[in-house]
Amino acid sequence: MSGKIIRPITPADRPAILDLNTRAFGEPDEAQMIEQMEKDKDIVLQLAAEMDGQIVGHILFYALGVFGRIGAVGLGPMSVDPWVQKEGIGKMLVNTGIKVLRQGGVSIVFVLGHDWFYPKFGFSTEQAADFKTTLTGPHFMALRLRPGPPMSGRLIFPAAFGVPIAEV
Ligand SMILES: CC(C)(COP(=O)(O)OP(=O)(O)OC[C@H]1O[C@@H](n2cnc3c(N)ncnc32)[C@H](O)[C@@H]1OP(=O)(O)O)[C@@H](O)C(=O)NCCC(=O)NCCS
Repeated sequence: MSGKIIRPITPADRPAILDLNTRAFGEPDEAQMIEQMEKDKDIVLQLAAEMDGQIVGHILFYALGVFGRIGAVGLGPMSVDPWVQKEGIGKMLVNTGIKVLRQGGVSIVFVLGHDWFYPKFGFSTEQAADFKTTLTGPHFMALRLRPGPPMSGRLIFPAAFGVPIAEV
């Protein structure tokens, strides 16, 4: 992995990160979500992958509420520059992010994403099953980092996701 580093983002990275997300997803929706989460102060961690001085990858973690309980963390969006995908950068970003969250004492991380990607890091639908949300299906997964709360509850996503809270 020589020449590639993972580091926290700086304010100067912002235009490159928004551009990267737009190119990687082929649409501006995710970049707009990032801008809204920034505005709403929902973001807990953002990391950039840098190669030869250029930002080629980005991962974002956000505060995920759990109704009436200690909150959790959600992952996404994340993106790798289409020119350098499948070279291990996505894996470096997820592994570094998870390591930082684990060191910070986070109990559980949720993700809404590719079912061919996140299970590689231990995410599964089973670990999300005790939490109530209007999201269903194989793309909604969780990864428990340590035992302890929250163990269940209704999830409250940032407004940027537009996910309604499940009925009791
Ligand atoms: C998903 C994404 C972040 C992966 O980043 P990446 O740097 O290409 O991933 P890596 O090279 O670290 O690959 C990690 C693993 O995923 C696999 N993988 C990567 N892209 C894949 C693809 N398109 N289809 C199938 N498997 C893929 C790799 O083969 C590797 O598997 P292995 O560990 O078993 O060898 C990147 O493809 C991307 O930015 N896509 C567009 C935006 C997006 O979909 N973001 C995620 C939203 S949930």
